Amino acid sequence: MENLDQLKTDLLAQIDNADLAALEDLRVSALGKSGTITGMVKGIGQLPPEDRRDAGQQLNVLKNAVAEAIDAKKDVLEAAALDASLATDRIDVTLPQRPEETGRIHPISQTIDEMVAIFCEMGFTVAEGPHIESDFNNFTALNIPPEHPARQDHDTFYLPPNEEGERKVLRTHTSPVQIRTMVNEKPPIRIVVPGRTFRADHDATHSPMFHQIEGLVIDEATHMGHLKGCLIEFCRVFFDVDDLPVRFRPSYFPFTEPSAEVDIGCSREGGGLTIGAGADWLEILGCGMVNPHVLENCGIDSTKYQGFAFGLGIERAAMLKYGIPDLRTFYESDIRWLKHYGFVPLDVPNVAEGLV
Ligand code: PHE
Repeated sequence: MENLDQLKTDLLAQIDNADLAALEDLRVSALGKSGTITGMVKGIGQLPPEDRRDAGQQLNVLKNAVAEAIDAKKDVLEAAALDASLATDRIDVTLPQRPEETGRIHPISQTIDEMVAIFCEMGFTVAEGPHIESDFNNFTALNIPPEHPARQDHDTFYLPPNEEGERKVLRTHTSPVQIRTMVNEKPPIRIVVPGRTFRADHDATHSPMFHQIEGLVIDEATHMGHLKGCLIEFCRVFFDVDDLPVRFRPSYFPFTEPSAEVDIGCSREGGGLTIGAGADWLEILGCGMVNPHVLENCGIDSTKYQGFAFGLGIERAAMLKYGIPDLRTFYESDIRWLKHYGFVPLDVPNVAEGLV
């Protein structure tokens, strides 16, 4: 046991000179399972009983001193290593930023947002409904009974009959949401309904899935003048042409009476299409005063309430406003197309500001 002091001096000197790797080696060789000090602790049992207590105490002191020295040295070495790396690993804040890909808003979403903004500014709220509809909501309640010729125009996708023999449809227009709203809410009603619609038709200008926005206003004294004012204002703000000519042409829809189609002025001079004053007209939406039969089908007293409805295709409006030539490109998910025709997020022009 006399040489414990010497051992301690040697170990502390070695610890003092060690680097991180050597320090770990020293710990293992002194305090590890078969280390020198560990071995000596194990040897205590062989000493005469009267020496064991003293030896034990001394070895403990030595063990703690060595362990502490190793820990202290380790802290010093690690702090020095950190300082060294902080001094060399500088972040170069002058490096130009790496370009980041920003997504684009699809022109259909953009157009819906713009239209909804215009109508909400006029006091409409947004309503939605399911894509799979009952025959009643999509046709019958809208005054299109079975065998009505208007059903043929809709190229309806029918679902297989359910247990009750009922054949649901993929809604062919957003008008069933008129029915849902009138059945569930009391007038006054003022809603717009953007959403997907489906018809079995596919060519350069028709897609089996497309989008419409529907409008419905029901109140006690809502008349054709309100319909005209609302839609003229909408067309002018949406196309951003203050004096855009707007024409109402008599038409027919089973669910409105009278009905009209709305044309906007345009010019086709020089082969291009310019929306605004010109010699030509372009059809843009369908509308009319809600047919009293439809009100009655929804449990609304048609002697007390009346109103107007309108519907238009989102894709067509987007193509006209943004000069998109081909309908099919809307659904191709071509990222180059989206980069060209899409919109930067958070940069939605506040079209409603244009309202007068
Ligand atoms: N639902 C009609 C269509 O899809 C559009 C429309 C809606 C017309 C509301 C008049 C009133 O063609």
